[in-house]
Amino acid sequence: MADKKKEGIILSLGSVNADFQVRVDQKLGETTTLLAHDFRRFSGGKAANVAYLARKLGAPALVLARVGDDDLSLQALGALEDMEIDLRYVEKVKGVTTGFSMIMVPEDGKKNIVLSTNANDAWQDHDREKVKQAIAEAPAGSVLVVDYEVPPFIVEEAIRAAHDRGFTIVLDPSPTDRVDKALFPMIDYLVPDASETESLTGVSATSADDGKKAARKLLKEGVQHAVIKLEDGGCVIANTETMLYVPPIEVEVVDTTGAGDAFAGALAVAILEGSSLKALASYGVAASHAAITTYGSQPAYPDRERLEELFNQICNNVQELHEQ
Ligand code: RIB
Repeated sequence: MADKKKEGIILSLGSVNADFQVRVDQKLGETTTLLAHDFRRFSGGKAANVAYLARKLGAPALVLARVGDDDLSLQALGALEDMEIDLRYVEKVKGVTTGFSMIMVPEDGKKNIVLSTNANDAWQDHDREKVKQAIAEAPAGSVLVVDYEVPPFIVEEAIRAAHDRGFTIVLDPSPTDRVDKALFPMIDYLVPDASETESLTGVSATSADDGKKAARKLLKEGVQHAVIKLEDGGCVIANTETMLYVPPIEVEVVDTTGAGDAFAGALAVAILEGSSLKALASYGVAASHAAITTYGSQPAYPDRERLEELFNQICNNVQELHEQ
């Protein structure tokens, strides 16, 4: 991965949040009060997490986001500043609260998130020009990673501008009710998780075979590559010529928070570095495996060495899926 560096950068547009995380011993249900422990405050949000991992892996990263002019913005941005991520396009909006997430992690590690979007929704019509400017200034060969935890009009503006510049576009279709499928022909890599896949295609992504069916549907709808993150931690990656299944390896699941963002971040860095389809998907799966083995999102993200270690175990097991 490291020896193929190109000129581009990772542009990460989407949510930047303050994450408040606890562990709960019971499953969330009808109970009105749950006792929690292991309270932690982290920098979070999908765009923040993607940029954090990209930078940790050594890629230059720039975030496009909105936070508030409050103390929560310090929590949201502190870790990004420490990583020397370019924050010149992160605006602190006056009188608005920074987006925050309340995250509950039960014993099985499968987190529940309540997101108060707040400043993430504070993008204005005139911000379209700023997004265009950021993309115009970025070096050729850059990769845009974008999620829908910000208003759809700004997602669309970024996708159109990045497409016009020939940048690779990675779309995390979360939340799916905001997704505009008319944009799919401009999307190079669509990276839904299992539940997003079901909501976009009607196919529940529990097995490689389901992933194959879902990928076919998304390819028909125009995306260049469908990357289905399966429930088992593996993925199916497909374009119109090739379809691959990347099986998971066994790791201890501690906390799944931010695993999808780790996947997108590692995939984006691998794209920037010119990796093959098999390698791209394996890096994504390797990063999400690392992310689930430690409590929290950004604190769990792997460095190069750990990523390569997992990648070497994962890449050898990739299987070609054939049409039936
Ligand atoms: O994907 C995990 C992220 O989703 C969290 O950091 C949270 O803030 C939400 O945006």
